[in-house]
Amino acid sequence: MNDVIVVASGKGGTGKSTVCVGLAVALVKQNKRVLLIDCDCGMRGLDLMLDVEQEILFDCADAVCGNCKPAEAVYRSKNLEELYLMAAPFDSDNEISPSVFKQLVDELKAHYDYVIIDSPAGIGSGFVTAAAPADRALIVTIAEPTSLRGAIKIRRKLIDLNIQNIRLVINRFERKHFEELDCYRDLDEVIDISGTQLIALIPMDFRLSSIIQNGLSGQSWCPAMNIFDCLAKRVEGYIVPLAFRG
Ligand SMILES: Nc1ncnc2c1ncn2[C@@H]1O[C@H](COP(=O)(O)OP(=O)(O)OP(=O)(O)O)[C@@H](O)[C@H]1O
Ligand SMILES: [Mg+2]
Repeated sequence: MNDVIVVASGKGGTGKSTVCVGLAVALVKQNKRVLLIDCDCGMRGLDLMLDVEQEILFDCADAVCGNCKPAEAVYRSKNLEELYLMAAPFDSDNEISPSVFKQLVDELKAHYDYVIIDSPAGIGSGFVTAAAPADRALIVTIAEPTSLRGAIKIRRKLIDLNIQNIRLVINRFERKHFEELDCYRDLDEVIDISGTQLIALIPMDFRLSSIIQNGLSGQSWCPAMNIFDCLAKRVEGYIVPLAFRG
């Protein structure tokens, strides 16, 4: 299939990296070979989440500059076979051009069922680079006005970049908080305002956060992980219900 998915958001901290890892893990469980590319140059984090930070010698900037072969900048996750990572450069002075990044991903994608690209927040040049090779996009938002405004902006930018296949992930959802916020009639209103079809609703769950932040170590599991299994099925094109409906 060789699908390239960019995970983006207007506002920072909505859960892009968490969704990248959760989705990648779920796809691997469904026997897919997955490459995660951290495109958050200067603010990388997926190496920590996959527990390979000590192994990284080369990153995607090295691969595009020819400091190494592309395959030499790909590291296998310690805890999951078939899950691979290409890290972002540690320093932000290495800006990568969209066309060069696209060329790199086009070369790599033949070896994987899915390439998932973690984008920096916002609609700046880092996002444009991250989105350049993508066939489709997941926009991650929180159900609150500032985050939702960011989701609308990023959707417009993705369409400008000719990415039409866009789905919405509402993350860190908590019914009580949503009701107290009192900004929206219901979740349907949030989805309508975003103008983007929902693909997953993920609850606020600190166990999920700790499993993903701790390098997926051990056999840790929490109910929110099931949501990523459903998200992966939906990404694959199966019609399955949302695992969590708020
Ligand atoms: N569903 C969730 N429940 C609880 N905590 C979550 C959830 N999703 C993400 N988090 C936490 O929210 C914080 C931000 O998540 P994450 O780093 O994935 O966001 P991001 O969008 O990648 O941020 P940035 O824009 O800085 O790259 C982290 O502490 C993460 O563990
Ligand atoms: Mg991130």
